[in-house]
Amino acid sequence: MKRQRIVAGNWKMNKTFDEGRDLAISIIQQLGPSENLAVLCPPFIHLNYLSVLTNGIANLKLGAQNCHFEESGAFTGEISAAMLKSVEAEFVILGHSERREYFKEAGELLAKKVDSTLKHGLRPIFCCGEKLDAREAGNQEEIVKQQLEEGLFHLEESQFSNVVIAYEPVWAIGTGKTASPEQAQEMHRYIRNLISLKYSSHTANLTTILYGGSCNPKNAKELFSQPDVDGGLIGGASLHATDFISIFNSFPVSG
Ligand code: PGA
Repeated sequence: MKRQRIVAGNWKMNKTFDEGRDLAISIIQQLGPSENLAVLCPPFIHLNYLSVLTNGIANLKLGAQNCHFEESGAFTGEISAAMLKSVEAEFVILGHSERREYFKEAGELLAKKVDSTLKHGLRPIFCCGEKLDAREAGNQEEIVKQQLEEGLFHLEESQFSNVVIAYEPVWAIGTGKTASPEQAQEMHRYIRNLISLKYSSHTANLTTILYGGSCNPKNAKELFSQPDVDGGLIGGASLHATDFISIFNSFPVSG
């Protein structure tokens, strides 16, 4: 079995209904058949319509950017994993640094969201990554290890095999500063090694680990050619169909 390579677009809080529809149509028109997976993670309002547009396209899936851990109830403004499943979402971004920073999401809360996501047959794209001060102090591995231990490592191995990890150094998100291919590879290898120690080398080898943070059509090829970088979680560049597709087409041919 080969591990899956994925390019996921995190639209964040962008695109009205019409703009999102046009972007998705444009992506669909340019997306060729491929064994790699493209995932669109738009704001919630787009999911239902995009599920109709993407129906039957084998290498294009949908994801959400967040969900609540409860099944249902009096949680004004929230959305549940079951609701996301009902509009054909297959992935949910969890633990994004913006949610950690602005909404104070961390540790136990993220673990509960991961559980609810998996329970409903959705796959978490679990984000981890250090801030600039931690990188400068050389503490990046410690930070990432703690985030994975708190959010994911309570899972059984069979559950964990549905998880996608996104390494996103906070200092690289939306800043135009990308981690060097060597920095990305070093951290991805470290993460894979942690998975191997916690679960097994089999599971570690099959886990998709994405890089995120100012990934664009210019740097994607070099990043994706690193042996432990299995694709990207793309913010800004995912809002332009040609850029997103160009990143999607950046995997080495043989890999
Ligand atoms: P960026 O965002 O590509 O705009 O840096 C990545 C992300 O936040 O997922």
